[in-house]
Amino acid sequence: MEPRCSPRCLLFLLLLGACGFFQSYAVEVELKDASNVTCLYAKWMMSFLINYETNSSDYKNTTLNLSSNVTHNGSICGNDTQAALVAVQFGEGHSWSVNFTKTNETYQGDFITFTYNTNDTAVFPDAKRKGPVTIVVKDTMRPVQLNNVFVCHSADFLEAENVTQIFWNVTVQAFVQNGTISKKESRCPADTPTPAPTILPTTASTTTLPPVPTTTPKPVENPESGNYSLKNGNKTCLLATVGLQLNVSRDKPLLININPKTTVADGACGNTTATLKLNDGNSTLIGFTFVVKNVSGGGQKFYLKEVNVTLLNYLNGSVISHADNNNFSKWDAFLGSSYMCRKEQTLVINEEFQINTFNLWVQPFLVKENKFSAALECSVDDDSILIPIIVGAALAGLIAIIVVAYIIGRRKSYAGYQTL
Ligand SMILES: *[C@@H]1O[C@H](CO)[C@@H](O)[C@H](O)[C@H]1NC(C)=O
Ligand SMILES: *[C@@H]1O[C@H](CO)[C@@H](O)[C@H](O)[C@H]1NC(C)=O
Ligand SMILES: *[C@@H]1O[C@H](CO)[C@@H](O)[C@H](O)[C@H]1NC(C)=O
Ligand SMILES: *[C@@H]1O[C@H](CO)[C@@H](O)[C@H](O)[C@H]1NC(C)=O
Ligand SMILES: *[C@@H]1O[C@H](CO)[C@@H](O)[C@H](O)[C@H]1NC(C)=O
Ligand SMILES: *[C@@H]1O[C@H](CO)[C@@H](O)[C@H](O)[C@H]1NC(C)=O
Ligand SMILES: *[C@@H]1O[C@H](CO)[C@@H](O)[C@H](O)[C@H]1NC(C)=O
Ligand SMILES: *[C@@H]1O[C@H](CO)[C@@H](O)[C@H](O)[C@H]1NC(C)=O
Ligand SMILES: *[C@@H]1O[C@H](CO)[C@@H](O)[C@H](O)[C@H]1NC(C)=O
Repeated sequence: MEPRCSPRCLLFLLLLGACGFFQSYAVEVELKDASNVTCLYAKWMMSFLINYETNSSDYKNTTLNLSSNVTHNGSICGNDTQAALVAVQFGEGHSWSVNFTKTNETYQGDFITFTYNTNDTAVFPDAKRKGPVTIVVKDTMRPVQLNNVFVCHSADFLEAENVTQIFWNVTVQAFVQNGTISKKESRCPADTPTPAPTILPTTASTTTLPPVPTTTPKPVENPESGNYSLKNGNKTCLLATVGLQLNVSRDKPLLININPKTTVADGACGNTTATLKLNDGNSTLIGFTFVVKNVSGGGQKFYLKEVNVTLLNYLNGSVISHADNNNFSKWDAFLGSSYMCRKEQTLVINEEFQINTFNLWVQPFLVKENKFSAALECSVDDDSILIPIIVGAALAGLIAIIVVAYIIGRRKSYAGYQTL
């Protein structure tokens, strides 16, 4: 798990953190199986930011923290055929659960179900609708080796509907073998940040930050292409292959190649809007939003409408810089097809950020069988091909003229003989 929170949410979190709202209790669940040995262990902290409608018909944000009286009724050990389940109940009718699935080698969180009860007047003093509200979110936890314990001290965020769920100090092992919690840890990438080129010279930089090298080495190579995809259930709904290079113009220009090996894709598919969020695991977040439009003369096309970039301070996750441009009208192709552009393209987000894309191939809608549909290629995809085409066309034209001239010539002379 790594920090995954929109800049909006991050700023909100920072505010909350500053106000000391983070006082929360750790939850600990240890399940035993029929033979009285541990089959599942989990200890973590969590907190919820909920946006709800008030009786005066506006929206308010509230924080729901865990109380000391947490029960874990309904939790299940799980086995090869049944998902494991950690279910907890807390406060005035709130509950939270996550189920885990396993393969022969790994286990991972499947879905998180969260129910908050707006009857809890301490948290929702003026809620318009009273009663339980349930949301179900796909867990973003990556697969963990069986017989490894997953540990993540860093905060992880899950945003869905009107709720941001925040988890931290997480230790979990599902499908525990032989009743012993493993000594082998699987750490989340966010816990082992590698100080790398995203440390930017901020005006507010303090002496605790490592000094920024005066000559920033420019990556001369083009970025490696990454294959990213999103799923809806178990069906792939968005495909993107692209090499990404972020061009930051701050005090001095800086090029950051996004490393696909550490980058995790997240986002949402929809019928008319699709969002691909990339987190490079190294404090850079890039989001692409695609929408569908009707084309005059019939049919529908998709295009890239919005791109945003967020740079985080890798030490504490605070936002160094954020930029958003929702005025793009690029990468368009008919719905049901894909868009391809091998040459380098530049997306100018603002005066500070540009993104250079390489070897782009994207299909944000109507992906069939995990595969790209026929591609519309960007115009003049490759200049080196254009010249031979022009020369070729000119030659073909010349040949056609010669042939026509020859035929006319022959006709004329033939006609000439006939008159004789
Ligand atoms: C399970 O084991 C614990 C300690 O090992 C013991 O206190 C408890 O009585 C056992 N429960 C059952 C149902 O055997
Ligand atoms: C509540 O939070 C959301 C996002 O986290 C923000 O957009 C909104 O402005 C906040 N609303 C209030 C009333 O603070
Ligand atoms: C668990 O749920 C059952 C049935 O709903 C109930 O009888 C029991 O008291 C609950 N236990 C706890 C610890 O809440
Ligand atoms: C996990 O829980 C979700 C929500 O309740 C459910 O849709 C899904 O089928 C469960 N997964 C498994 C493998 O049981
Ligand atoms: C909204 O609910 C609060 C708390 O119950 C109450 O004090 C307030 O008068 C209500 N406002 C309206 C407009 O109903
Ligand atoms: C669990 O016990 C079995 C039999 O004693 C052994 O073969 C296996 O390696 C053990 N697994 C782990 C993860 O310790
Ligand atoms: C990305 O996908 C393409 C085509 O499916 C494949 O050739 C390439 O090896 C993949 N790249 C990586 C890094 O997986
Ligand atoms: C980076 O952006 C600056 C202007 O913002 C531009 O002058 C420069 O050519 C760009 N560099 C690359 C490699 O795209
Ligand atoms: C994060 O670190 C930066 C630089 O050290 C500092 O300016 C900023 O205030 C910190 N933010 C938080 C929320 O601690």
